[in-house]
Amino acid sequence: MGAELVESIEHLRQRLTEARRANATIGLVPTMGALHAGHVRLIEEARHECQAVVVSIFVNPLQFDREDDLRRYPRRLDQDRQLCDRFGVDLVFAPAVTEMYPVPPECTIDVGHLADHLCGKYRPGHFHSVATVVMKLFGIVQPDRAYFGEKDAQQLAIIRRFVADLNVPVRIVGVPTVREPDGLALSSRNAQLGPAERQSAIALFRALKAADRRIASGDTDAEQVKRLAAAEIPPDDPSLRLEYLEIVDPETMQPVTAITGPVRVAGALWVGSTRLIDNVLSLGAT
Ligand code: PAJ
Repeated sequence: MGAELVESIEHLRQRLTEARRANATIGLVPTMGALHAGHVRLIEEARHECQAVVVSIFVNPLQFDREDDLRRYPRRLDQDRQLCDRFGVDLVFAPAVTEMYPVPPECTIDVGHLADHLCGKYRPGHFHSVATVVMKLFGIVQPDRAYFGEKDAQQLAIIRRFVADLNVPVRIVGVPTVREPDGLALSSRNAQLGPAERQSAIALFRALKAADRRIASGDTDAEQVKRLAAAEIPPDDPSLRLEYLEIVDPETMQPVTAITGPVRVAGALWVGSTRLIDNVLSLGAT
């Protein structure tokens, strides 16, 4: 039958009413398209656990804080559709901006202190817009389960929290980060890297792994661990600029000073004009 492309909310709701009538568990995978093996892992999880799988493809303009980033963001709906087809997606929901935002939203989701650090600190308003569009997608699809990658750990923590705080009836499923053989986290933005930049980009994961090793060996001093990890970013590579490297509580996303339990080590690295993020969960000394 193949993945059906649906562009209107009304049409999607009709299709989902049919699925619900057939007692299907509905799984939602929200994306901004330019799908890669990381997205596919989410789709596979959804396919495994749900009878009806919806992939949304919507480059949400409100969550972009830089005009050039929104403009450069890769868009390839035909390819994405084929991929969804191949992995057994039932419905591809790809609305136009005017379908999602007929008027600018007045009522939105406040994400509180969860956005104070990491990407939230450098991208003001970003997570507020992510939470708002994800809540809209939950309202449109009313999924039983929704799938998100740990690659965007702050995003996942914020979604888990607003779902809990606002009693949104959806089960959030977190999926581990899919990486290239050398460790680079898959990202739609990797397509923007030139060959030399692609080589340089691995420095971020190296730094995070260095922090993880240090923590596993018993170092509890977050400042010291961060310093050692940041030293993994080659200072003589002019294409690289470390935006942040932080160690936070995995749920509250607040920085820790003493590492006494599991922590997320997260970083953002500019590689030329492309901003990459990554993180690892560090369980502490074993
Ligand atoms: P996007 O960047 O397209 O990512 C869609 C989903 O794929 C997110 O949950 C993200 O964490 C996950 N993902 C991306 N790269 C991954 C990887 N290497 N391994 C595992 N999962 C990965 O995140 C967004 O879109 C948007 O902010 C969205 C939630 C759709 C709201 O607009």
